[in-house]
Amino acid sequence: MENAKKRIFSGIKPTGDLTLGSYLGAIKNWVGFQDEYECLYCIVDLHAITIRNDPETLRRRAREQLAQYITAGLDPKKSVIYLQSHVSAHAELGWILGCYSMIGELNRMTQYKEMQKKQANNLNSGIFTYPVLMAADILLFDTELVPVGEDQKQHVELARNIAVRFNGVYGDVFKLPEPFVPKVGARIKSLTDPTAKMSKSDDDPQGSVYIMDSPDAIMKKFKRAKTDSLGVVRFDPENQPGIANLMTIYSAVTGRSYDEIEREFDGKGYGVFKPAVAEVVTDVLRPIREGAEHYLSDGADELERIYREGAERARDLSEPVLNRVRRVIGFVER
Ligand code: TRP
Repeated sequence: MENAKKRIFSGIKPTGDLTLGSYLGAIKNWVGFQDEYECLYCIVDLHAITIRNDPETLRRRAREQLAQYITAGLDPKKSVIYLQSHVSAHAELGWILGCYSMIGELNRMTQYKEMQKKQANNLNSGIFTYPVLMAADILLFDTELVPVGEDQKQHVELARNIAVRFNGVYGDVFKLPEPFVPKVGARIKSLTDPTAKMSKSDDDPQGSVYIMDSPDAIMKKFKRAKTDSLGVVRFDPENQPGIANLMTIYSAVTGRSYDEIEREFDGKGYGVFKPAVAEVVTDVLRPIREGAEHYLSDGADELERIYREGAERARDLSEPVLNRVRRVIGFVER
């Protein structure tokens, strides 16, 4: 029977601890897709090794990220939640697709060009073929929609182009994926530099609120958040980028509009507004953090069961697609 629900695939790489930005900008949206779509949510640890990681840190982050996915509301009963390195099909299709990707088009990837500039004398070829592996992640599951931020749209378009090229040679093998940039995805900025994205790999940990931060740490970070000398809580990203960012956070967490927030804090200074933001953020992150702490200690067996089952389901879903690919290319049947 043809599946009526469209399929979604997305992933985050465990190269840094997940932040409030990861939650409000990505994971919270993913949670909402679970009933309407058939979703695969991956911890893309193969993508993480284009940079050197301490092995213990990589392992900790991958497990912690998985735990956070679940306690943030990704439901292993509804969605396929797993670690990329547990499903070899990603690497296999990645190799195959590399033979249908042009050096020229990979050279044109914005993210690669930035890396070329940033670390000219330390460019491993994984950094170059990164988008090919991402194309494999997506095409491996007949994915139709790929929720990503603006910065990853180009990679999803590349995946589509590779699929079109491959289909041009062999017929309708791959579904054509589309980037899915949700309208309401909150774009959270750094607390210390409100012109830059809040990033899990920021060198300055004061700029990011991490999901695992203690209430104390969260309060301190918000109290120190960069604002301005105007002293009014008003949504004006141009002139008050710091306050606009705090309002975006407050709005994303409470569901209140900017108008409502302006009224709520009318005549009150930043000394009132900042701790108020810290408080609602603490309330929303607390259950995610505490739940994750459980999965990393007493609940470790359960976490293991979840990721094993997820990988098994991902393998099952990938098999027919990979078999199609093997057959049309001309590999001898196993
Ligand atoms: N490249 C994405 C990022 O840096 C992570 C990623 C890897 C991904 N594979 C993916 C996202 C497949 C969506 C679909 O954010």
